[in-house]
Amino acid sequence: MKRKTLIIGGTKGIGKAILENLKSHECHVISRSYSARQNHYALDVLQDELPEIEGLNNIVYCPGSITLKPFHRLTVEDFISDYRVNVLGAVRVLQFYFKELKKNKGSVVLFGTVASQQGMSFHASIAAAKGGLESLARSLAAEWAPNIRVNVVNPSLTDTPLAEALLSTDQKRENAAQRHPLKKIGSPEDIAEAAIFCLENQWVTGQTIGVDGGMSTVRV
Ligand SMILES: NC(=O)c1ccc[n+]([C@@H]2O[C@H](COP(=O)([O-])OP(=O)(O)OC[C@H]3O[C@@H](n4cnc5c(N)ncnc54)[C@H](OP(=O)(O)O)[C@@H]3O)[C@@H](O)[C@H]2O)c1
Repeated sequence: MKRKTLIIGGTKGIGKAILENLKSHECHVISRSYSARQNHYALDVLQDELPEIEGLNNIVYCPGSITLKPFHRLTVEDFISDYRVNVLGAVRVLQFYFKELKKNKGSVVLFGTVASQQGMSFHASIAAAKGGLESLARSLAAEWAPNIRVNVVNPSLTDTPLAEALLSTDQKRENAAQRHPLKKIGSPEDIAEAAIFCLENQWVTGQTIGVDGGMSTVRV
């Protein structure tokens, strides 16, 4: 029988690449925008009623944000909004599906950011939220072992709708690529491969895996 995986945000960017590369799973998808795809639920994961999915094994939570501002211009609302979509949305989903995941020996993949591992200017709000998400993941990996594995993939700048404004000209793309030791920005598939590894490998939990062109660890 196919394993059942719920991808929150499987219609764009990294989530879409995961969906396209997870053919061996029965995938269910949530996003706010409508899709005619089978097993797609159009809803806002932060507030709408979530669908019951019997036999669910895995959850991939993709909603996130990139809020880049100097610290003195960040408002309390910016911090709350980043925390809400990156952390509380995941909390809401994981609390709702916990019993099903436990019953079915599940796996959870969340997305952090390279900016919580390495200090980066203008990232204070998003780094604080994603750092919280990483700590949440490690806590749950401990609390839910051995039944549910929980891991985080930390991308650097990746070519998705979320990063559109940062990659809107050839010059911006080239500059972004050159900032990375591997001299390229990420593709959704680069990140999806790591997420699928975390879903499939049965002996990995509580890990944060950087898929970031060397940004978090390498100086050339
Ligand atoms: N792209 C990057 O450069 C980058 C870098 C570091 C970390 N990350 C992290 O990687 C993760 C995936 O990023 P991405 O670039 O693939 O994002 P994306 O292009 O914005 O895609 C996000 C997906 O989530 C859905 N979504 C967003 N909010 C939702 C909500 N409230 N309810 C239901 N669905 C919702 C979106 O669909 P709808 O809009 O239709 O709802 C979309 O399918 C994020 O957590 C992000 O912070 C990305």
